[in-house]
Amino acid sequence: MFSPFCPVDVRVLPAAEAMLAVRAMLPKPRRLLVLASRGRSAALGLAPFLTALQGDGHAVQLYGDIPANPTVHDVAALLVRLREQPFEPTAILTVGGGSCIDLGKACAALYHLLPKPDAQAVRECITSKRYRTLHIVVELIAMPTTAGTGSEVTPWATVWDPDNRTKLSIDHAAGFPKAAVLVPEWTLGMGPDLTLSTGLDALSHAMEAFWAVARTPLSQELALLAAGKIAGALPVAVRKPNDLAARRDMCMASLAAGLAFSQTRTTACHSISYPLTLRYGIPHGYAAALTLGAVMARNAKAVHEMERLTAVFDEAEGFDPWLYETSRGIRELRLSAFGVSEAALADICALSFTAGRMENNPIAFTPDDVMAILRESL
Ligand SMILES: [Fe+2]
Repeated sequence: MFSPFCPVDVRVLPAAEAMLAVRAMLPKPRRLLVLASRGRSAALGLAPFLTALQGDGHAVQLYGDIPANPTVHDVAALLVRLREQPFEPTAILTVGGGSCIDLGKACAALYHLLPKPDAQAVRECITSKRYRTLHIVVELIAMPTTAGTGSEVTPWATVWDPDNRTKLSIDHAAGFPKAAVLVPEWTLGMGPDLTLSTGLDALSHAMEAFWAVARTPLSQELALLAAGKIAGALPVAVRKPNDLAARRDMCMASLAAGLAFSQTRTTACHSISYPLTLRYGIPHGYAAALTLGAVMARNAKAVHEMERLTAVFDEAEGFDPWLYETSRGIRELRLSAFGVSEAALADICALSFTAGRMENNPIAFTPDDVMAILRESL
């Protein structure tokens, strides 16, 4: 038994049509908060789009301080800014990658609960899950500019808490975006490093949705579709950044992987990734992908259909050679290349057991297993 659920209105469109579609999704005047980094706004030429939205009668507030990996401090800074203006958003439009979408989701979930926001209030509200009592939902439209996060079709947002060296999750049924509008040409501007790290995040979502305890026949088909597209398109996208067909395939793969793991959640690789990002600043997609090979090899003992997934990489003679070839000259995907030493592995291992993720792995890993995985990935 499984009940697939995704309430998101998803479109994949050229830029001009995407902007018209977003305008049509906002039929009544809104107080529209637009989250887009200054660099992104300039590169995508968003100014005429925002002017058109104002012409439609919306009050538009642009916020450009979009951090990589938003923290409780970043969320508080945005909420404080909105209180100071004052600007009470009735809709949020994000134009950016996963961090931008997650900042928008955090704002949508917390704005009405925190009249006097600060980092501690944000932390308390997320850890107590008080946002689940909220009945005022600020609708969110996501226009992803990377191909990897999948956040545009999940109800979760990651907010980091560097003071307590931990990762927090906003997680509620009302957290799905109202709409996701994918614009493949907007991903053309990504350099090889960002293309690779976000593409590997999508691949991790796909592979983990394939073998998760919570896997379903549908999540596995979506995962295979995503992994197959990534196996073919990611090596092209990192070497030929202007190849629109490869970019479109990556957008569709990221979407399919997002839909797959929105039904299953992630497993050991994402669980192990969090301390790697918190302690060593390893970009999220790399942190998740570093252990994919070692985890897949172990999980094959519990997931009999795993050969369908490994077959995706047959042309490259296996997953590890595919990963090596795809990342060659861009990043060395070893823990040691990111400054992690053998001496640090025990600490990382102790922080790797994220609730809801590690238990979703089809083999129950012990700390000894995780140490062995980390050593293999060193
Ligand atoms: Fe991820």
